[in-house]
Amino acid sequence: MPNLSDTEKQKIPATGAPPALRRASCLPASSRLVSSPNMLPCFNADTPPLFLAPMAGFTDTAFRSLCKQHGADVVLTEFVQSEPLRREVHRVWQSLRFPADQRPLGIQLFGADPASMSHAAVLLEERLRPDFIDLNFGCPAKNVIEQNAGASLLRHPALLSQIASAVVRAVPLTPVTAKIRTGWNSASISTADTARRLEDAGVRTITIHGRTCSQGYSGEANWDEIARAVAAVTLPVVGNGDIRDASSALLRIRQSGVAGIMIGRAALSNPWVFREIKAALLNQPLPAPPSENERLAALITFAQILDRQHNEIFGNSDDIRWMFPRLYPLTRALPGGRKLRASLSLCNSLHDLIRLCSSPAA
Ligand SMILES: Cc1cc2nc3c(=O)[nH]c(=O)nc-3n(C[C@H](O)[C@H](O)[C@H](O)COP(=O)(O)O)c2cc1C
Repeated sequence: MPNLSDTEKQKIPATGAPPALRRASCLPASSRLVSSPNMLPCFNADTPPLFLAPMAGFTDTAFRSLCKQHGADVVLTEFVQSEPLRREVHRVWQSLRFPADQRPLGIQLFGADPASMSHAAVLLEERLRPDFIDLNFGCPAKNVIEQNAGASLLRHPALLSQIASAVVRAVPLTPVTAKIRTGWNSASISTADTARRLEDAGVRTITIHGRTCSQGYSGEANWDEIARAVAAVTLPVVGNGDIRDASSALLRIRQSGVAGIMIGRAALSNPWVFREIKAALLNQPLPAPPSENERLAALITFAQILDRQHNEIFGNSDDIRWMFPRLYPLTRALPGGRKLRASLSLCNSLHDLIRLCSSPAA
């Protein structure tokens, strides 16, 4: 356990409904999460919910379906800017469509203007009724920072609070959540302060990626800092960063006391990671890793869904080259993955791809 100060330990709420959660025996009995009517329903389960991280360019409806199928409890869309929603950009609206079986699903919004963000949230609530709207306060991409959106708002806490409060007020029917990093840089760690601000603004859950903005994706996620934020607020905190398998998931949950975990990059090459972690949380034997045939079958199904989705948005086309970067991560754990990638890159149609993956050694 990280060293928490006495003050931090005392922040465990004294009121509210009886402690009901964290029933899984592999988790600490001293869990601090208490049930509350405001809590997202996913936190009422026996085990901490497993979230699929939002990943621009990856977590479209096809990939979300794949992860749902393999045990993700909650999924998020890729981030979407508020302005194109307000300007009725058709492709952006179309990209947000999701089937009912992907619920519970959150749509992630980013922007720097409280009015624009709350207007976009109202439109989302009216038209798509997501289970929650997630505010992005963690993106380190240059073009996002230049607009003073994403992780840039960690440097502007008053504006961050204003955006969160405005969106919470604008969508009374939809829970609002937020995703943050530990701070702007190592000299300005602000995790607990940002978490308290968001709680005061009425946000229902905070996901913390345990890196600063200036770290990007380098170094290790700082789970001690996540634990500090857990102790600083009463709402459920979801921990994120470097969870790759069952053992890293259990370690981080025990270390930090988070109410849920979010998995990003590991799911890209191994969407089965969710079922593995779920089994460990339930104290069940870990499922056997997916066989080569299972991986290839998943690759075919994924390509078929991608193709269908692409044709719906851009019109019918045989061209499948655009989808190769989406398929490659799924080939990484396959024996002969490199050879398969080389062969995939020569496929001219979905038909070729299906034939190749049905008998890859041929
Ligand atoms: C390709 C890519 C795209 C991402 N896009 C988003 C995004 O749209 N919104 C967001 O909040 N985080 C985004 N992230 C960050 C992830 O959600 C997550 O916080 C990060 O990858 C750390 O988790 P992991 O170690 O499990 O991958 C992205 C990460 C990657 C690798």
